[in-house]
Amino acid sequence: MALSEFITQHQEAILSECEAFAQTLLPAAASMDKAALRDHAAQVLAAIALDMKQPQTGRAQRAKSHGRGPAPSSDNPTAAALHGELRAAAGFDVNQTTAEFRSLRASVIRLWFESKPQLGRDEVFELVRFNEAMDQALAESILYFAAEAAHMRTLFLGVLSHELRTPLATIMASGQSLVLAQRLQRPVPEAADRVLRAGKRIESLLDDLLDFVRSGLGEGMRVAPVPLDLGKVCERVVGELQSVYPERAITLARSGDMACTCDEQRIAQALSNLVGNAVKYGRPDKPVEVTVVGVDEVELVISVANKGAVISAETRDSLFEPLVRGAGGDHFGVNLGLGLYIVKEIATAHGGSVAVDSSAEGGTAFRIRLPRHANEAEVSAFGGLKLN
Ligand SMILES: Nc1ncnc2c1ncn2[C@@H]1O[C@H](COP(=O)(O)OP(=O)(O)OP(=O)(O)O)[C@@H](O)[C@H]1O
Ligand SMILES: [Mg+2]
Repeated sequence: MALSEFITQHQEAILSECEAFAQTLLPAAASMDKAALRDHAAQVLAAIALDMKQPQTGRAQRAKSHGRGPAPSSDNPTAAALHGELRAAAGFDVNQTTAEFRSLRASVIRLWFESKPQLGRDEVFELVRFNEAMDQALAESILYFAAEAAHMRTLFLGVLSHELRTPLATIMASGQSLVLAQRLQRPVPEAADRVLRAGKRIESLLDDLLDFVRSGLGEGMRVAPVPLDLGKVCERVVGELQSVYPERAITLARSGDMACTCDEQRIAQALSNLVGNAVKYGRPDKPVEVTVVGVDEVELVISVANKGAVISAETRDSLFEPLVRGAGGDHFGVNLGLGLYIVKEIATAHGGSVAVDSSAEGGTAFRIRLPRHANEAEVSAFGGLKLN
């Protein structure tokens, strides 16, 4: 059977192999369902089979083998081009995207050889055409992948500068009124408070951003655990956040043994990200409830709960990916979508985990589980994620 015909007839078997492979491309693939992983691979295959069936002049073949085949247009992108674009948007890196094409090529050739084709001149010629069509599809996919990644980078920088400008404007305005008040010799505790709050916001944005950039450089997150009282750490953080959000009720309850070994600064960073979210996305008339429980000899749990909009089951896992924002996010101004990613990395670097429950009755609760005695993490907790 001709290879192009074989591809058409065995599409299901080929796609199943590729899908199983794509699922191993963590962490981006973790938040994608089966249909999304399979999506354009089926169309890429069909387009390749069709291309192989078309007559081709020697000149066209030479052009294609030198990477000068027909270019996809932005009005009518090919399946491979769309595939690249979607993979970039889903957080795949360029290695993962090319690996998918490698897997597609290997699956086709392996399954075809297993069907024991009579290998003559025509079959070798078909194999060459198949490889040329695959290379063309890969080149298109990467072209669109790069364009989408560049777009996301620009968007990210735009959002970042917007986010930094807002608290900076507060600092400038409050600074001016402080100067004026000094001249008039009037006390101005409010302006000083505002400067402090805006400064804290910039500080926490920059902390998260630095961690994200470090993760892109492959440095990973390291923690330096020391023996401490987790209840006291949470008390300090809640106290600080209460002064940042004086209009909101933030409660703290503790129970059990609070002695543990962890990185105080990192735990404070994770807790303030969770409380910041609860304040931002929770109902303003209900308290944010922080609870710390020494569960047993091996585990402690910090939970941050709020009432408000439910986080849907489909989006729950992807919220922990970098630069991912929830559906309701836009109502609350512009944010980076890094907070929960950093929380997850901090929990993982301690040997713990983070999870979320959300329902209309119970509200939303994020829980960080920490081993009572974390070892100093030797390896990167970021899993080698690359900045696009
Ligand atoms: N307590 C919560 N209730 C409802 N939705 C939440 C809650 N916490 C987080 N989310 C959703 O999860 C998304 C991701 O949160 P994350 O903290 O990672 O990013 P962000 O708050 O959008 O931006 P950043 O934290 O970087 O400023 C948010 O956009 C929001 O939609
Ligand atoms: Mg956040």
